[in-house]
Amino acid sequence: MEGIAIMTSGGDAAGMNPAVKSAVDYSISKGLKPYLIRDGLRGMIDGDISAATREDVSGILHRGGTVLRSSRSKRFFEYEYRKQAYDNLQKLGINKLIVIGGDGSFAALNQFYADFGVPFAGIPATIDNDIPGTDYCLGVDTALNMIRDSVDSIRDTATSFNRAFVIETMGRDCGYLAMVSALSSGAEICIVPELEYDLDAIGQRLRKDIENGRSSILAIVAEGTNMAEYLTRWITVNLNMETRLTVLGHVQRGGSPTVNDRIMAYKFSVAAVDSLLAGHTNKIMVFREGQLGALDIETVNSSKVELDPQIIDLCGHLTK
Ligand code: F6P
Repeated sequence: MEGIAIMTSGGDAAGMNPAVKSAVDYSISKGLKPYLIRDGLRGMIDGDISAATREDVSGILHRGGTVLRSSRSKRFFEYEYRKQAYDNLQKLGINKLIVIGGDGSFAALNQFYADFGVPFAGIPATIDNDIPGTDYCLGVDTALNMIRDSVDSIRDTATSFNRAFVIETMGRDCGYLAMVSALSSGAEICIVPELEYDLDAIGQRLRKDIENGRSSILAIVAEGTNMAEYLTRWITVNLNMETRLTVLGHVQRGGSPTVNDRIMAYKFSVAAVDSLLAGHTNKIMVFREGQLGALDIETVNSSKVELDPQIIDLCGHLTK
């Protein structure tokens, strides 16, 4: 029986567990022998790999994070450790890989393919939603729902106390979480890397609102702008309103995957196994304009992240 190994790599994201479960179950149904690699690339190097049965992956789909655990391995950059990883796979007869993670993990496995010819299929998973070529990455919906709950709670206290709140969402280089959260929570300000902002115009707009009775303000700021602390001081001084800063942090990465993340995980996993069975190498599963597909790793690497232009447009009025 041909061996297929499944791993999660890079930042964890909700939806990884249902993807692992589905990849194992579907591989078995296709006559493959699935293996699980623990701790991502670290486990590949150190041989932390074991055969998986359906029972091994039962009861995991509702859990957040990744039961396989994850890591960011520097050793994998070195040929000698990649060779060690290859020897571990060889011993177990593994000649196909599924990696659930981000573009850094895909690039690592692309190098591994160049070295030893072991094909992989990539499943995009990161709460940042910033993998080029796909409109959706696993974990995004769960993160957005976590943020919504937090922002709704903050709105309750803000309105009770005549206060402004600046809320920083994750997103190292990408403002997707911040933009969707600003829209879905009715925030008054949104600061993201994708949009220019004009604090003078924001000031004029909100001063008018305050004259007309507005007593609280929510501002959603993407982590990647580094603007949260500055904006907190700016609102205090310029809008004369007591202002608090909440950095949501890693709470956004946890939590039971939403229905959408579970279903997307199933779809991506089945597509990944099918892609490898069809003899494709180094394809990244993508979801674009409502359709599931697959792109070459090179296409993904040479593309830019394209966020939903309507979301960007809708946020425009929150930046001035
Ligand atoms: O890439 C996902 C992400 O959650 C980013 O939004 C954030 O900047 C980063 O990971 C945090 O990484 P770490 O968990 O290593 O602190």
